[in-house]
Parts: sequence; C-alpha cells; structure tokens
Amino acid sequence: MPHSHPAPSPAAEQGSPGVNPLLDGRDLRLPRIADPCVLVMFGITGDLARHKLLPAIYDLANRGLLSPSFSLVGVGRRHWGDDDMRHYVEQAARSGARTPWRPAIWEQLAAGMRFVEFDSFEDNAAYEALARVVAELDESRGTLGNRAFYLSIPPGWFPAVTERIARSGLMDDAEGSWRRVVIEKPFGHDRASARELDELVGRIVRPDDVFRVDHYLGKETVQNILALRFANTMFEPLWNQRYVDHVQITMAEDIGIGTRAGYYDTIGSARDVIQNHLLQLLALTAMEEPTSMAAEAVRAEKEKVLAAVVLERDGVLDLDLTTARGRYGSGFQGGLPVRGYLEEKGVAPDSRTETYAALRLEIANRRWAGVPFYLRAGKRLARRVTEVAVVFKQPPFLPFTSAATAGLGANTIVLRIQPDEGITLRLASKVPGTQMELRDVSMDFGYGASFNEESPEAYERLILDALLGDAPLFPHQREVDLSWRILDPVIEHWAASGAPQDYRPGSWGPTGAHELLARDGRSWRRS
Ligand code: BG6
Repeated sequence: MPHSHPAPSPAAEQGSPGVNPLLDGRDLRLPRIADPCVLVMFGITGDLARHKLLPAIYDLANRGLLSPSFSLVGVGRRHWGDDDMRHYVEQAARSGARTPWRPAIWEQLAAGMRFVEFDSFEDNAAYEALARVVAELDESRGTLGNRAFYLSIPPGWFPAVTERIARSGLMDDAEGSWRRVVIEKPFGHDRASARELDELVGRIVRPDDVFRVDHYLGKETVQNILALRFANTMFEPLWNQRYVDHVQITMAEDIGIGTRAGYYDTIGSARDVIQNHLLQLLALTAMEEPTSMAAEAVRAEKEKVLAAVVLERDGVLDLDLTTARGRYGSGFQGGLPVRGYLEEKGVAPDSRTETYAALRLEIANRRWAGVPFYLRAGKRLARRVTEVAVVFKQPPFLPFTSAATAGLGANTIVLRIQPDEGITLRLASKVPGTQMELRDVSMDFGYGASFNEESPEAYERLILDALLGDAPLFPHQREVDLSWRILDPVIEHWAASGAPQDYRPGSWGPTGAHELLARDGRSWRRS
C-alpha cells in the first residue's frame, strides 16, 4: 500500500506533551502516541511473549509510539523479582527486536517494569498484589489509571483469571481512564465454546474494550488487500463471478509443530489457522466495499460475506468431496531427516489431529455465485508461502492458433502476503520472434523495491492499536462466531472419519487435497 507521508501531527512534534524527549526528534511523522498506561501481561514467560510481544513493545518504544510513562507488569509462575523480569525482557528484545538497540530507550522502558509472582492463576492474594503494583505505577509513573490486560494464556484459564481480575477491582470503571482486555486465539474450540468465552469476557469488560488478536490482520500485506481493491479502478470491475474462475488461499509453512505439541495436538490446522487467518483473508478478498475504513464499517462487510459462505458444492453438501486433511509423516526436509507428526514429543500416539487442511467453499451472493474459494494450510510443506491467488477465466475467444496459445495459463493476481511481500500479475505476452507465440509473464510489485521503510511487525501494529483503542484490525465476536459456523460441520465430519492421510514432508500435502481440485478440473498453484 503506498504510504502517504502526512504532515507531522502537532502531538508528534518535538516538545509536545507526550512525546519522548529521548527520541531526539526522530520519527516526526508519527501519527498517534499511546496514552500513558499499564500493560499487564499474563503469559509473559510464554513463547509468544518472548518471540513477538516483548520485541514489539521495545520496537514501539524505540519508534516513539509509547508514552514515556508506559509501564509493563509481567505476571507468571516464576520466583522472579523485577530485575529478573527486566533481564528476561532485555534478552527477548535484543534477540527479537527489529529496530536498533538504544540504551536510553531501554532504561526508560525497564524503569516501568514490574513482576508479580503468581503461585497459580487461582492465587487470590496475587491479584491483590497486582492491584497494588498497578496503583503504585499510577502514582510513580503517571499512568493515569489506564490499563490493558493481555491474556496470552490458554483459554481454559480465562474463567479463573477474568473473575479474579474483576474481583480485585482492577477493572472497575474510573472517570477519565480506560480498561481494555486483549485476547489471543484460539477464540474457543467451536461455535458454542466461543460464545461461552465471549460471555465470560463480557462480564468484566464492555464489548468495545475487548481486542481479539488475529495477527494476520496486523500484517501490511493483509491490510493492502483493501487498498488494492478499493483505492484502484482497475481491479474491482473484474472482481466477480463474471471474470473470476476461482480463488486459492494458501498458508504453507515449512516448519513442523516444534515444541508446541501441547497446544497443537488438541487443535489441528483448521482450528489453528483456517478459523481465523484464512477466513479473514477470504473475507477481505471477497467483501463488498465498506462505507469507510472505520471498524464498524469494515466489520459489517466482512460479516456479510462470512455469513454467505456455504460448504455445498453446486448445492450438494458432501464434505468428503469438498474437504481434505493430512498429517506429515517422517522423511527429509531441506536434506535433513525430520520426525513424523506422531513421533513429535508430546503428541498422543493415537492422535488424529491434522497438520494440513483444505476446504472448498462457495459464497452464495450475486458477486461470487459459482466461484469456488479453495483454502489450504499446512505444516512441513515444500516452502513457506502465504498468498491469495485470484485466477481469472479464459478469454471467451482467442484469435490465435491453438499452437500459439498452447503454453498459456490463466490471468492471475497473486497477493503475496509473505515472504517476498508484494503483488504479482500473471498475463499473456508475445514471445519475441517472427511467429505469434504466447506465453505467461509476470508483472511484480515488491515492497522491498517500492518503499524505503521496512514494514513494522504485525504485533507492533496490533499492540499499539489496542493501546490506542483503535478497533479496525481486530475481529469482532460476530466474525469469530460466523467463522465457527463454517468450520464446525467440517470438524465434526472429520472427527467421525478416522485418521488424516499421511503426506511426505517437503511436499505440497496429501493426495486428497489434489483430488479435491482435480474433481473441479483444476489444480493447486505450485504443485
Ligand atoms: C499462528 C499459528 O497463528 O500463526 C501457528 O498458531 C503458525 O501455528 C503461525 O505457525 C504462523 O504465523 P506467521 O506470521 O509466521 O505466518
């Protein structure tokens, strides 16, 4: 998305209230700075915090987007003092941050860090201690009673934690200050449990103060889907069933489940990434134009399209024909031996969890009737790539010899979400020479070549937006609910259908997924 460079807002000018004097006037294009506040992080010792959240907080501070008063309270089951936590956060930030190390910024951030030891999430006394620490920070750091609770913990703990946070008075309304809750997926296990979870969170916080993180929405390339579609003239007239043959949405990873068996084996690929990331990509690709980029307007369009998704193929529901799942076996990847899923540490020997899932969906509305949307996601595939490919129909007539067009594919727009972020347009071109011979060529837009600035990490954007109270990049509960509506029947069907099919590590997934497209006379890209 081309970034315009707005004039510096008055608040961002050096010397204005809230601007960090340690920035020495760097980054004067900053749009908004988060209010002074305390961020209480449950799950600070977890992988997500270490690899993503803590480096993102440092990067935000370094970019001048946090108030100098910003304070971070870690909650965990370690015998740690504040300095132990500082040391841990420093390690995480030094190894994971995107921006250079600046000792003065770090010192300022570290001065606002506190650790509260919990014996367990049911430890009532610890919540009282937490309330005292937060009150002390309001006094000593000027955090003005603003607080956000980041729950990066298994949702099974949500009831115990939310109830006690509420009882400690930490969420009580206070004139002129805000309270927010940020939650990480999984948002439930199915539609019913997602509703229960929402009800639970709703007991302690107003719906508008809940920020559900789907980190894909924080990615620049994902936000760019709306820019491509609604800031240009060229694409939207073609973006419908008259011209589009089908859409393929791929999230392929070349890694296995690593050390996450405890989480993954109870979840599987469909719940892990299709329920959220891939259905959000579908919604952004297929939705109508919103009246503005305000949260309510964008969400309303995403909801409409999710509500129109059907699992039927030409009106007939047969999930054996329209879904596929697989599980990586043992073998080699990148020349190295790798364990099969069932041999991964922590995976139940009789596990039936899928590490690959593919679905064929249709959207029952005027724009998309009859256009299949194929979604696939998997681990230990041939390479890491996330993309949305909009494949167009063949021209109704070709005034060339069949020999000239023998090598032609279909016009395709590929939104390259990651890596190698950008957009590719596949189109037909004449091969230089004396004869009319046609071949597919690519026109590429790459972020690296078009912009000087590096894209922020998704979590920088999302943490900042949560602290600013900006909701557009956070899915609403209604979207979560509609996504489970799509997935519940698939997961129930799989639960009653035995084990997933094995696939070779480094391949493009199980044969069932290839058959799924072959039935429609199509094939997956790159396979
Ligand atoms: C997470 C999933 O949401 O996304 C992981 O739980 C997956 O299983 C990860 O590996 C991939 O994120 P990214 O940003 O690297 O595509």
